[in-house]
Amino acid sequence: MSGYAQNAEIELLNGGEKRSVQEKLKRISSEANRMALMVTQILDATRIEEGRMVLELSSCDIDGLVRETVETYFSVLNKNNNRLALRIPLELPSVEADPSRLKRVFVNLISNALKHTYNGTILIKAEADEGFIKVTVKDTGSGISPEDMPHIWERYYKGKHSETGTGLGLFICKFIIESHGGKIWAESELGKGTEFTFTLPLSK
Ligand SMILES: Nc1ncnc2c1ncn2[C@@H]1O[C@H](COP(=O)(O)OP(=O)(O)O)[C@@H](O)[C@H]1O
Ligand SMILES: [Mg+2]
Repeated sequence: MSGYAQNAEIELLNGGEKRSVQEKLKRISSEANRMALMVTQILDATRIEEGRMVLELSSCDIDGLVRETVETYFSVLNKNNNRLALRIPLELPSVEADPSRLKRVFVNLISNALKHTYNGTILIKAEADEGFIKVTVKDTGSGISPEDMPHIWERYYKGKHSETGTGLGLFICKFIIESHGGKIWAESELGKGTEFTFTLPLSK
């Protein structure tokens, strides 16, 4: 990427075409974003391994968290022309949770969905059930093969056809959700899409 940035700089100095420089800047910013995500994943995984991921609980509004995450990350990560749909009821009760950790879960699930989906839809849905909140991130992408499925939560596991990435995202999601007393699981059909669902207990 630094070579690419250097090219853009030279092009700019030589009075290069605005459109072409803009295109390069966009790619550099999206690459920088991807790298920042990777660094955060490595730090999160290290914290987990060393038993240093401590939750700081407060009353969390899921709708607000999803909107904040989407505002920061959706457009920068959406390289494959995907559409976003949010279905979160206004009256959804709040949960006792660590907002910054829950954001990491959303970032990981949304970035995965965007990476494996082309010209499709990412649907984020939340609902209250008895004693817990259920959140779903669903995509219309490539799906996960039955061979990959049992391994996706493992640290460093990357699917057979996934070149980029650390293989840490889902390992981190699982740890964070389970430390909140929730559950997380995936359902997928190859060629049709994938649905990740997690629950969080409602405070008594
Ligand atoms: N939404 C999705 N659609 C298709 N495959 C997915 C999706 N989310 C995760 N996967 C598969 O699960 C693997 C593990 O995901 P993750 O832990 O986030 O690692 P990474 O994204 O760094 O590869 C991915 O490599 C990919 O094969
Ligand atoms: Mg990932």
